[in-house]
Amino acid sequence: MSDQPEAAAPHTHEKREHWSGQTAFILAAIGSAVGLGNIWRFPGEAYDNGGGAFMIPYVVALLTAGIPILFLENAIGHRFRGSSPLAMRRVHRRAEGVGWFHVAICFVIGLYYTAVIAWALSYFFFSFTLAYKDDPAGFFTGEYLQLGEAGTVSLSFVPHVLIPLAAIWIITIVVLALGLHNGVERLNVIGIPLLVATFGILVVRALTLPGAADGIDALFTPDFSALTDPNVWIAAYGQIFFSLSLAYGVMLTYASYRRRRSNITSPGLVIAFGNSSFEVLAGIGVFATVGFLAHQQDVPVAELDGLAGPILSFVTFPAVIAQMPGGPLFGALFFGSLVVAGLTSLISVMQTISAALQDKFGLHPRGSAVAVGVVSAVLSIIGFGTTTGLYLLDVVDQWSNQLGIVAGAIAMIAAALWFGGRSRELQRHLSAVSTLKLGTWWLVLVNAVSVLLIYMFATKAVSLARDGYEGYPTSYLAIFGWGTAAFLLAAALVMPWLRWRRDIVHFRPWPTRQQLGLPPGRDDAPVEGSAS
Ligand code: PFF
Repeated sequence: MSDQPEAAAPHTHEKREHWSGQTAFILAAIGSAVGLGNIWRFPGEAYDNGGGAFMIPYVVALLTAGIPILFLENAIGHRFRGSSPLAMRRVHRRAEGVGWFHVAICFVIGLYYTAVIAWALSYFFFSFTLAYKDDPAGFFTGEYLQLGEAGTVSLSFVPHVLIPLAAIWIITIVVLALGLHNGVERLNVIGIPLLVATFGILVVRALTLPGAADGIDALFTPDFSALTDPNVWIAAYGQIFFSLSLAYGVMLTYASYRRRRSNITSPGLVIAFGNSSFEVLAGIGVFATVGFLAHQQDVPVAELDGLAGPILSFVTFPAVIAQMPGGPLFGALFFGSLVVAGLTSLISVMQTISAALQDKFGLHPRGSAVAVGVVSAVLSIIGFGTTTGLYLLDVVDQWSNQLGIVAGAIAMIAAALWFGGRSRELQRHLSAVSTLKLGTWWLVLVNAVSVLLIYMFATKAVSLARDGYEGYPTSYLAIFGWGTAAFLLAAALVMPWLRWRRDIVHFRPWPTRQQLGLPPGRDDAPVEGSAS
């Protein structure tokens, strides 16, 4: 069918923006994948979950879930050519809500992901004078965040956080408003090589520190007994989903900007392996640095605290930076890398929301970008620019990221494969446009993974409902944790009722079902029941 022009699918998407080419797409997708999750989440997760032995579930998760689901999202976006709600609506007329669920998760994540980038931006500047050197822990929670009491809500703003937060939002709004090509694409084309270079220098420097080898040993010494613990496996799958930005509708939206005749599968492998390579590199860099700290304090690495989460980046790292020769430069490289990695991920999340609003309400990219950016900026500043932002972040993250995305992934698989009956169609679509062909094994994997996802969802939901989370007051969790879940559901249920302001009726996927060797289906007649 390669000689078949795009005429089979008239005009509806002609105005849709496009990447300038395959490399731009790959860089943007890697930009989304490589983020805070690679630099601070992966090393801590690996260390806590069996060290070197964690690499086994990690690689298994990458191969059995990461790559297959990435292909699925890319296939849906590419074949049905739309933001998540539009593409899902075309997959099945009742599945639009799944797309809005993705968009709502992106909205929530955008609000707090920005806060962390803002902290990193502050710390980038603090590094030049080593402002945190006397007491990194006290500096972070006290002087800098001016942290209030857990489980409370405060509206007193912290100026140190407010200014970088506003700056990150302004950058984000400008990049989005410049459009896919001049904004999003350019940010990634410049940002990703820059990130690889800065982080590369950082890792080389870290490896030459005394004690580096002990740190790396601590990270990679395998504890094989961890492999019998189901939680270790869940952690590996969770890490892969977060790290590859899967089930957020991001990879779906990004694939929808590729031209119809585009190779999808091989670039998918480049994205997946590129992301994991960066992740392992980050693990090595971070633990080499931690090894130096242990060496300075003359204790084994295992006895150090604060090797995960925000504390690792904003307390432990500053402590090391303060003690090492060339610390200011090292600090600037580390926090600069966090800012760039975070920004390219944040942009992908915001673009996913903006694309959905453009499709649904017929908005111009610039108008949509500004609207989404301004609303998010205001909410993010109110929620996370205050003295209780860190706690809110912790709770909202659990519900949206640990629970929400698993639900989003299950819903997407169910809509496309189980209710939409699109299995063969998507498999043949990928094979028709790509150099690397997919066999039935791909469908088997996606279905098998969904069983695991359902198990993960159930375990997490039960544990949050029964045990709460980290000792926060029940009422606080009810409002901000379960409230977040309710918001996601409400978006999924309400948004499909609103009218489409554009023609979504005259859409025919290309290659047509017939060209894929499938019997005619409902796409060969106009989609029923759509407004406008
Ligand atoms: N993949 C990003 C990271 O590893 O930090 C996080 C992320 C970005 C998750 C974008 C979801 C998303 F839509």
